[in-house]
Amino acid sequence: MRALKLRDDIYWVGAVDWASRDFHGYSRSPWGTTYNAYLVKDEKVTLFDTVKREFAGSLMCSMSHVLDSLEQVDYIVVNHLEPDHAGSLDELVAACKPEKIFCSPMCEKAMGTYFPQYKDWPVEVVKTGETLSLGKRTVEFVETKMLHWPDSMFSYIPEEKMLISNDAFGQNIASTERFVDEVDRGLVDRLMREYYGNIVLPFSPIVLKTLEQVTELGLEIDLIAPDHGLMFRGDDVQYALKRYQEFAEQKPTMKAVVVYDTMWHSTEELAGAITQGLQEEGVSVHLLGLKQNHHSAVMTEVMDAGAVVVGSPTHNNGILPYMAAMLQYMKGLKPKNKIGGAFGSFGWSGESTKILTDWMEGMGIEMPQDPLRFKNAPTHEMLAQAAEWGRNLGRALKEKVGA
Ligand code: FEO
Repeated sequence: MRALKLRDDIYWVGAVDWASRDFHGYSRSPWGTTYNAYLVKDEKVTLFDTVKREFAGSLMCSMSHVLDSLEQVDYIVVNHLEPDHAGSLDELVAACKPEKIFCSPMCEKAMGTYFPQYKDWPVEVVKTGETLSLGKRTVEFVETKMLHWPDSMFSYIPEEKMLISNDAFGQNIASTERFVDEVDRGLVDRLMREYYGNIVLPFSPIVLKTLEQVTELGLEIDLIAPDHGLMFRGDDVQYALKRYQEFAEQKPTMKAVVVYDTMWHSTEELAGAITQGLQEEGVSVHLLGLKQNHHSAVMTEVMDAGAVVVGSPTHNNGILPYMAAMLQYMKGLKPKNKIGGAFGSFGWSGESTKILTDWMEGMGIEMPQDPLRFKNAPTHEMLAQAAEWGRNLGRALKEKVGA
């Protein structure tokens, strides 16, 4: 892999993972991903982050294009210890023999659990507000605990107005392009939502606090360099900040997700009728069956929807297993400011809608009307009732949104 010059003496030296489809073991990455790392050749040559272990060779190859020897590296900054960024840290330490390795206090605490040999490394802890001189440039550190792990931090280079933002502002995309302005804007926006909805969403209060902190610290930013996907430069910096503010606020919208699983298509038919009813009230609806859609694809739509409707037939006194997995996944991501509904068919005992309602209320999702349940196959009258139930929910959503 070749290094890409971003500015004088500043290079992208990351790796492109074209084959990635399973990101972190729980989220799909249908467009692949990148593990970005950045090299600054100042009086102190500094590497910001490494890459996933199997891409260590690619990283070292990129660095070799712009360095005579890897041992020219004086400093390594570890913005985050998760293995997609620090997985090859030990190999880089061995190859570069850095004078110092900088990381946050929480990173230092956990480093030994990944690298027992770190006690022999020249690790120096840095906290929010601390600075490091590289020569002509300085680095200001901002801890961003839980964005995405307790150890995460940003590195800001004021002389370059460059923010190395680690997981924040990331998108999963493998490409030959490196900047947002070089690819389709709609795709970037979708991939930002996918990444935020599946990884960052539970930490939205921290995102809002961090955005405030960025303003308070008066960080002038002309380049956001995340550790996954494309970089934001010029006007795109404001676009990225604005989108993160919107994602984190989770204001309800006139969008609904109807997500369901089905056995003999009765619950599926109800889902279609509910969708019709919502649509008639002006709601934009995503109708997603769990046999066709991965839970992370559903979550990408849930994150900015004002309403979430879940359906499952009763099976062995419970709900279908894909739906149980979906609800467990959704709960962990802590969606906010939504209304919802539950529906499902049943043959005899009929517990599913109560179980679904309990899950939804447990997530703090308001349920404006009783669940919708039908025995066996729905008749025409039952489907008309389901459409009316959808219209009712659409009216409740309008009220919530203030539309
Ligand atoms: Fe990209 Fe939290 O790792």
